[in-house]
Amino acid sequence: MQQYVSLRINGSRITAPKGTSVLDAALSHGICIPHLCHVPGLTDFGGCRLCIVEIVRNGRSKITTSCTLEVQQDMVVRSDTDRVRRYRKNIAELLVAEAPNSRAIQDLAARCGVQEVRYPFRNEKCVLCGRCVRVCEEIFGRPGRSDSWEGAKSATWTSRLESGRISARSAGPAWTCAP
Ligand code: SF4
Ligand code: FES
Repeated sequence: MQQYVSLRINGSRITAPKGTSVLDAALSHGICIPHLCHVPGLTDFGGCRLCIVEIVRNGRSKITTSCTLEVQQDMVVRSDTDRVRRYRKNIAELLVAEAPNSRAIQDLAARCGVQEVRYPFRNEKCVLCGRCVRVCEEIFGRPGRSDSWEGAKSATWTSRLESGRISARSAGPAWTCAP
């Protein structure tokens, strides 16, 4: 039988199935936490760090990614503190600097309060969110994961397309999830 836990997010008490991530629990209760690399149903790896929240445990607060954090009984979570907002805005700013031409990232950054970018633009096509790799691996059963940074980079579908290792046609399913 499914077990549930009760926790507080931004002052609201909610219940969520044991094993759910804080991000999924928040989203399913209409509490919006910005996120980029999370894809419902796929393994979360905490790549973009946009979904950070503050948790309070034994009187101490800690910032952590909500997509990789499991709900716990009586957990206290805040996604709207000044500290979280400041960190999140900085993360969003870095993402825009990485891929300034991505409309999805621009929109996300605007929602995180970014009005100007203080970092040099890198004009990368890929921000290593890992969405394409996980969709291909976990939904279509095609290998692609790597433990190293360079390996991770070469596993993305932008890299595979640019190096000619795949065609635009076979990359189709991966692009449906790209930011
Ligand atoms: S190529 Fe893949 S890892 Fe890179 S930004 Fe697009 S979806 Fe994310
Ligand atoms: S959505 Fe949690 S780290 Fe990207």
